Formats: sequence, C-alpha cells, structure tokens
Amino acid sequence: MNITIRAATPADRDAIVALHKAAAVTPGALARAPEEVTSAYAQNAINSDICLVAVGAEGLVCGEIHAKRETVALFAHVLGGLTVAVHPERQGQGIGSKLFEALIAWAKAQDPAILRIELAAGGGNPGAIRLYERLGFKQEGRQVARGRLPDGRFEDDILMGMLLL
Ligand SMILES: CC(C)(COP(=O)(O)OP(=O)(O)OC[C@H]1O[C@@H](n2cnc3c(N)ncnc32)[C@H](O)[C@@H]1OP(=O)(O)O)[C@@H](O)C(=O)NCCC(=O)NCCS
Repeated sequence: MNITIRAATPADRDAIVALHKAAAVTPGALARAPEEVTSAYAQNAINSDICLVAVGAEGLVCGEIHAKRETVALFAHVLGGLTVAVHPERQGQGIGSKLFEALIAWAKAQDPAILRIELAAGGGNPGAIRLYERLGFKQEGRQVARGRLPDGRFEDDILMGMLLL
C-alpha cells in the first residue's frame, strides 16, 4: 500500500467533502448524513488544530482525520472533537490506523503537552470501536440514546479515551 499522510491544506477542501459524503453513505458510521457534509464543514475540519489527509499513489485523498485541542485552561491538555473517515473502497487496508498513528505522534510532540485524546463512537459501529481499542483507546462510558437514526431507532454513543502520560 502506497499511502502518504500529510497535513491538509485549503486545496483539499472539495476532496474532503467528497470523501466524507462517500463514507457517510454507510448507515451508523459517521454522525453526519451525506447532505450534512458541506464545504463549511470541510473548511472547519482543515482549520482544526490537527487535520491530516491520506493520499494514495494516484494522488487522491482517501482518508482524513481531524481533532481540536480544548481551549478552556482546565481541559487544555485534551484533544477532542475527533472525526475520522476512510473512503469505503479503501477501508480495511490500514489507512485509518496510519491516520491515527500520525495524529497520536503529532499529539505527543505538542508543547504544552497533550495528555489525553478522546472520541465518541456509535454503539452500532463495533468495527470502529475494535480499531480504537487496538490503537490504545479505552471505553469510558456510554451516552444512552445519544443518536437517533433515520428509521427512528436510538443508538448509544460509546465514549473512549487514551492517556498519553
Ligand atoms: C472506521 C474507519 C475510519 C477505519 O479505517 P480503516 O482504514 O478502514 O481501518 P484499518 O484498515 O486501519 O483497520 C481495520 C479495522 O478497522 C475496523 N473497521 C471499522 N469499519 C471498517 C470497515 N468498514 N471496513 C474494514 N474495517 C473496518 C475494524 O476493526 C478493522 O479491524 P478488523 O480487521 O479487526 O476487523 C473506516 O472504516 C471508516 O471511515 N468507516 C466509516 C466512517 C466511520 O465509521 N468513522 C468512524 C466514526 S466513530
């Protein structure tokens, strides 16, 4: 697999929109439905404290991860608001893992230090939860009925955290 992980730039905005729209088609994966993935959303992702894209040999963006450092002093060691997406045709090839490894390496290099990374995963997304546990995240809690699917069913959110102490 020939994948490069690099910082996103404003020129990646449309590619990030297309990627998230494609990944959002799978029900219960990303929080946003395809129609909720907008240019403004992608721009906001690029403006996050960390936004990385995975680029294939053909030069296409096939994965993206972004997160934000908390701004309140009490929580300033926490990296949250994390979202990750890999194009459906490229899932299961190690791209998500590579994006996380790069994000964790970036977090470990920050000064002042980032000491905690947190995320939430839909309870109906066991594959993603398994991946996050393999990367070192621990399940910390469950928000009951946090999500409501288009068919009216509720879904819990699983809160996960990783300490970099
Ligand atoms: C979750 C996601 C980012 C993982 O990226 P990836 O490149 O597929 O992951 P990797 O190849 O590095 O690792 C594979 C692992 O990811 C998990 N996984 C989650 N969704 C998967 C999918 N659709 N296909 C394959 N693996 C998936 C599995 O645990 C798998 O490990 P396994 O071999 O033990 O089953 C990606 O599948 C994706 O974008 N899914 C749709 C959007 C989404 O669910 N985002 C996360 C919201 S919390």
